[in-house]
Amino acid sequence: MSAIDPDKLKMFSFLLFTKLEGAVTSGMVHLGDQLGLYTALANAAQPMTTSQLAHATELNERWVREWAYNQASARLISTTNTPSESPSINDDQFFLSPEQVAVLADPNSPAFGMGMFHRLPQTMAALNKMPESFRTGVGHDYDSHGPEGAVGIERSFEPWTNANLIDTVIPAIDGIRDALTHGATVADIGCGAGSAILLMGKHFPKSSFVGYDISKYALDRAADKLNASGLKNVSFHDPRKQPLPTDNSVDFITTFDCIHDMTHPAEMMHAIRAALKPNGTWLLVDIKAHDTFALNAQKNPMAPLMYGISVLSCMSSAMSSPDGAGLGTLGLSASNAESMAKSAGFSQFRRLDIDHSINAFYEIRP
Ligand SMILES: C[S@@+](CC[C@H](N)C(=O)[O-])C[C@H]1O[C@@H](n2cnc3c(N)ncnc32)[C@H](O)[C@@H]1O
Repeated sequence: MSAIDPDKLKMFSFLLFTKLEGAVTSGMVHLGDQLGLYTALANAAQPMTTSQLAHATELNERWVREWAYNQASARLISTTNTPSESPSINDDQFFLSPEQVAVLADPNSPAFGMGMFHRLPQTMAALNKMPESFRTGVGHDYDSHGPEGAVGIERSFEPWTNANLIDTVIPAIDGIRDALTHGATVADIGCGAGSAILLMGKHFPKSSFVGYDISKYALDRAADKLNASGLKNVSFHDPRKQPLPTDNSVDFITTFDCIHDMTHPAEMMHAIRAALKPNGTWLLVDIKAHDTFALNAQKNPMAPLMYGISVLSCMSSAMSSPDGAGLGTLGLSASNAESMAKSAGFSQFRRLDIDHSINAFYEIRP
């Protein structure tokens, strides 16, 4: 054993505790979202003291103050005061910059980032089940995160989908906008709460849409949203009760961020091939991943987050049956997706030029 270098020891301890700082501050972000603190700061015309923020949110000032100190020292919310200008605790004022509003408080912004924080308690509660999963190899599906888990997924993906699916993604796929405009059959597999398919249903009234998911909580959300929308050209099913058609009858199939979560992704690709028309199109949207751990670690600054979420959520879902393939969050690189699609009987595979912070988009045809 070589001797401990005291400077390296300090730096390593600091590195470790920055992770704990991130975890604890993430909990505070969850509270800021859930308790309406970010919304109140975003709606205020002027920077607010913690008394004003507590009044606006009907919360206790002492707790709001400690929360605001966490958030401002983490530089997630802004403060008007510098230490020397702040002689009294009650003088500190807090506000959100336009960028902070977009990410923390505006669900209509494509940059809105509260979805993963919404489901943070459920994601972290999965830790309790992990020792058993590490021993048995068997993980837990999305419903193990309860109804709020489904809402968190919905809030994670819906803002970007609302901003980009119709005007950016659909036009990038060869011939699909015309097909949907004139009337096509569409399936969205792993549809979650149905945000994408309801949006397409609204924009393309001559087409018919079916969403499939195995999550009861996601399907319940989807049913509520369908009722609220009044749309008649959209329905939702659990594919274990009402499987995908096997007669090559569907024009367009979409899978958004879900193939890597599936216990049997290769079988799903065969099912998609059997459902699609010979001239049909599959839009595969999945996490931008490299082929190896080394490349992911080197090129993706979010790799630690993604591998951790994989253990707690994506890979856990993909291992939720004893024979699960277990791809996980970074398990479907472009080359892996292409070779799996070709093994399932597809011959055309094209990566679309669509800018997204975490996802890649592929147009795949028989
Ligand atoms: C990360 S979520 C994505 C949900 C949705 N596509 C979205 O973008 O909001 C993954 C979804 O895949 C679903 N899923 C996993 N395995 C599935 C399967 N075999 N068939 C259908 N859905 C599945 C999960 O229940 C979960 O709702």
